[in-house]
Amino acid sequence: MIKKIYEKLNNILSVYIFGNPNRFNYNIFNFFYRTIICKNNKKNEKINDLVKNGYFKGSKASKEFIDLIRENIINKKDIDKKTTEFLHQDKIENKKKNIAFNVDPSFRNKIIEFIKTDFKDDLLALENYYNNKISIAQIQVKRNLPLENKEYYNKYARTKEFEIYSNYYHVDFYVNTHLKMFINLQDVKKEDGPLHIYSKPSTRKFIKKNKYKNRNNYQCKELDGLYVNSGMVGETLFANTTECLHRAGIPEENHHRDILFISFIVIPEKFDNNKSFLDYYDKLDQNVVWSHNNSNVVFKTKPKRLKDTFNLFKKYYVSKMI
Ligand SMILES: [Fe+2]
Repeated sequence: MIKKIYEKLNNILSVYIFGNPNRFNYNIFNFFYRTIICKNNKKNEKINDLVKNGYFKGSKASKEFIDLIRENIINKKDIDKKTTEFLHQDKIENKKKNIAFNVDPSFRNKIIEFIKTDFKDDLLALENYYNNKISIAQIQVKRNLPLENKEYYNKYARTKEFEIYSNYYHVDFYVNTHLKMFINLQDVKKEDGPLHIYSKPSTRKFIKKNKYKNRNNYQCKELDGLYVNSGMVGETLFANTTECLHRAGIPEENHHRDILFISFIVIPEKFDNNKSFLDYYDKLDQNVVWSHNNSNVVFKTKPKRLKDTFNLFKKYYVSKMI
């Protein structure tokens, strides 16, 4: 009972003061991180977009990077046609509508090297903004397929059971030192079910106008501020999914969306040198970074209690670069 009241109060205060449905203590953390630790370089347009809207279009992934993933992970059967059965074992199917592809260890280092080179400038700008080193926390290659009973998804109230791939509007329950990147592994058109995201100011409007209570309960009406992340193969989006309402689009019949998701976290540790720490967690434990489930690394930005949230902030403060 007390927990319920606390959660409700937490949510009401968050929406009223910060304009998003994330936890109140996380929003407090975000406020202080932004005010005390962040270094906002106003000359960088991408960082300006991140601060103002909560997302920005990143650099384009190289053709070599996309080909590596398409040929060796998604279209494996094209390379080894005899082993289609193996291909089947090699991916996890969630109700057959959401496929997570396993990434063979032999390709993992190459993928990380591509991320380091292709997005070098974006990642450097982010590190300077967050004023702490950044590492990859999780990498997932996924395919979203059309869902049955499309009308169901327009209902006011829906159950979690039918949310197959984060296709209800939500924010990710982490603090804002958790950042997601979406890389198009194909040309993504409207009918392929692109990511839908609202900027930070539009998130506030969405909550009010659509009577947003939680991800299962709101009026399903898109508003003017919606950003639909369609685009060409290789195009990318960095997003603060902890403060912007977002959902996966649902592909139309005979369409799908192949996407590479990368979660980055700001590392709550002090380093003496200025090299890249992008593979920091991958070096510690590969299984965690490449797993299909939310990993321990990602959970570093999900403190449980108020005290843990404060301690995390303290760590970031002590480790900040300047
Ligand atoms: Fe999400």
